[in-house]
Amino acid sequence: MRSGKIVIAVFTGTGNTLLMADALAGELRAAGKGVTLAPMERRDVFESRAEAQNADFALGIAAPVACFSTYPTAWRFIDSLPAAEGREVFFLASMGGAGGGMEGPVRRVLEEKGYMPLGALLVRMPGNYGNKTINAGENKKTEAKAREKAKKFARELLDGTARWGRGLPLLSGFLASMAHGRRPWDFFHSMFPIEALAEKCTGCGLCARICPEVNIEMADGKARIGKDCQSCQRCVAFCPAGAICVPLKPSVQYRGAPLDSILSLIGEGGV
Ligand SMILES: Cc1cc2nc3c(=O)[nH]c(=O)nc-3n(C[C@H](O)[C@H](O)[C@H](O)COP(=O)(O)O)c2cc1C
Ligand code: SF4
Ligand code: SF4
Repeated sequence: MRSGKIVIAVFTGTGNTLLMADALAGELRAAGKGVTLAPMERRDVFESRAEAQNADFALGIAAPVACFSTYPTAWRFIDSLPAAEGREVFFLASMGGAGGGMEGPVRRVLEEKGYMPLGALLVRMPGNYGNKTINAGENKKTEAKAREKAKKFARELLDGTARWGRGLPLLSGFLASMAHGRRPWDFFHSMFPIEALAEKCTGCGLCARICPEVNIEMADGKARIGKDCQSCQRCVAFCPAGAICVPLKPSVQYRGAPLDSILSLIGEGGV
């Protein structure tokens, strides 16, 4: 990697991807690179950064795998990136275990815009959906392995040995084109709707502030989930009252990272 400065644009639903992006950033900083993390859902924040005007910065993109592709929030960011004349770019995804070659279509879009792909890593993290119990010990082990992989990936980026696959022929492109539309997300949401339980909701409004799709409104002091949901689970994970759930998938609340880390990434104040 020739760039001295790196901006890593992060989208995280429940915090797993943020943990990985932090581990990667730490290793790059240790090698003397200047690294900042920017919230993908706030494109204006990213574009107004000084680094964005500077030719000598590399772009990192960190997002979760979802429906064998990634969420609308992440695609919107990737699709709206300006053309780049050879700007270095790398990709980090956290997943449950099956990426479906989603790094291929991401690479294609970036190459078409003129970015220079350095490498991509998909790394398995603890399950963030429908957990009946949380096995803290097992999760810590999975997390520790994933951190090591992210750090190794950073070293590969630095010495030029990282790789970026092209995905599965036809299939990953098809899945990416599906993920660009509403179909998979509407289907998922209709199968497993997310609800805010009025009897538990304290009306604090946090979920409405942190929903990346601006899909939660407060009505009569209670949260109401709208239809434009990407099922990213952020509201489920971080509601302080545990009032948001997937009734058809009873589960315990899972957080990959603390609420403060999410708020600090997206530039929101405390609860
Ligand atoms: C709606 C939804 C869809 C998902 N789809 C996939 C998938 O297709 N493949 C996979 O390996 N993991 C999948 N996962 C798991 C996430 O990729 C994984 O838990 C990731 O680490 C979450 O990152 P985050 O906490 O930053 O949101 C999915 C999770 C959710 C909530
Ligand atoms: S975060 Fe939870 S308690 Fe606060 S408004 Fe949303 S649902 Fe209600
Ligand atoms: S309503 Fe919840 S699950 Fe749906 S997009 Fe917003 S934060 Fe994500």
